[in-house]
Amino acid sequence: MTYTVPKLKDFSANALRKATDDARFAFKDEDREVSSEAEWKLFRDRWLARKNGILTQINEMWLKAAPKEAKREVGQRVNELKQFIDGEFARNHDWVVAADKLASGLQPVDITLPGIQRPIGAEHPIIKTMNDMVAVFRNLGYSVEEGPVIETDYYNFESLNFPPNHPARDMQDTLFIANQESKPLRERLLLRTHTSPVQIRTMEKMKPPLRIVIPGKVHRNDPPDASHSPMFHQIEGLAVDTNITFGDLKGTLDHAMKAFFGSSVKTSFRPSFFPFTEPSAEMLVSCFICGGSGLRGSQGCRTCKLSGWIEILGCGMVDPNVFEFVKHNGYDPRKVSGFAFGMGPDRIALLKYGVDDLQLFFQNDVRFLRQFA
Ligand code: DAH
Repeated sequence: MTYTVPKLKDFSANALRKATDDARFAFKDEDREVSSEAEWKLFRDRWLARKNGILTQINEMWLKAAPKEAKREVGQRVNELKQFIDGEFARNHDWVVAADKLASGLQPVDITLPGIQRPIGAEHPIIKTMNDMVAVFRNLGYSVEEGPVIETDYYNFESLNFPPNHPARDMQDTLFIANQESKPLRERLLLRTHTSPVQIRTMEKMKPPLRIVIPGKVHRNDPPDASHSPMFHQIEGLAVDTNITFGDLKGTLDHAMKAFFGSSVKTSFRPSFFPFTEPSAEMLVSCFICGGSGLRGSQGCRTCKLSGWIEILGCGMVDPNVFEFVKHNGYDPRKVSGFAFGMGPDRIALLKYGVDDLQLFFQNDVRFLRQFA
């Protein structure tokens, strides 16, 4: 039965509800019958046409005919109905068109056209540098460990042989978490300034022998410039066993640098200081841009500042004082020894890709990042 708009005599709330419900049900019944776009168009015009469409008739026959005191209520009801029907038409049109195309034997999609490209993204150059470096150590049998970026004073400093108030703490411009003063010093929270605290965390949970690398984010109160950022990355390494010597440190790091930068690079060590290693060293690699000559053609090499060498990491033999903090888990400094190292993948990525401003890595400009994809 096709729907025709009834005349209303009764304008009570109940009668109005019934009248609009009837219209709604009729609409739904007719909607279900539609099976082609042509039918859909007829259906739409039947309900929406300005001239004599059902909604127009309802407007004329109900709203205009309503006694003054019922006009408000009728207006509201009719409006709701209209909104419902408009919404239904907006919703079902695409389906009807697609179904119609299918029914008429036309493909709704032309499968010979190239698909919509969904860019899958690529590794960020720093993450890639970290992954490549970590892979070198994984091939040597190292496993990967991680630790929290929000760290306690104990792990970041004390257990790494930075005593309270020791000036060595000033080497690292620490960002402290606010309102920690009521806690004992060792429990106060800060943003870790290096990945070294994960050395202790790992030795607390794993007995020796141990060979680990620790990639991660660190923070320091350094204003951003071309070579500094308050957030940057480190890769830490730690090997502990019986009879680990400085020779193992040199051999391991020399191999790692050759695997990473190419077999022709040379390494060089010079003395340095870190509270958690003794002795401590800085390691340099021969410049992989100019081959260590300090020259590019007749010009000086900018990458190594004409020196032929690039400082790449800090390292050393684990200080026995550090082992004292994890002695209970098998790290008796009289029985085990180890070496550790820490490097900055951000700087390595700058050098490797010839980028002259560290900030570019952190500004998330896809025009820059896309070049590494
Ligand atoms: N944690 C040091 C820093 O951030 C880097 C470092 C130096 C790590 C020597 C080590 C190491 O493990 O042995 O400046």
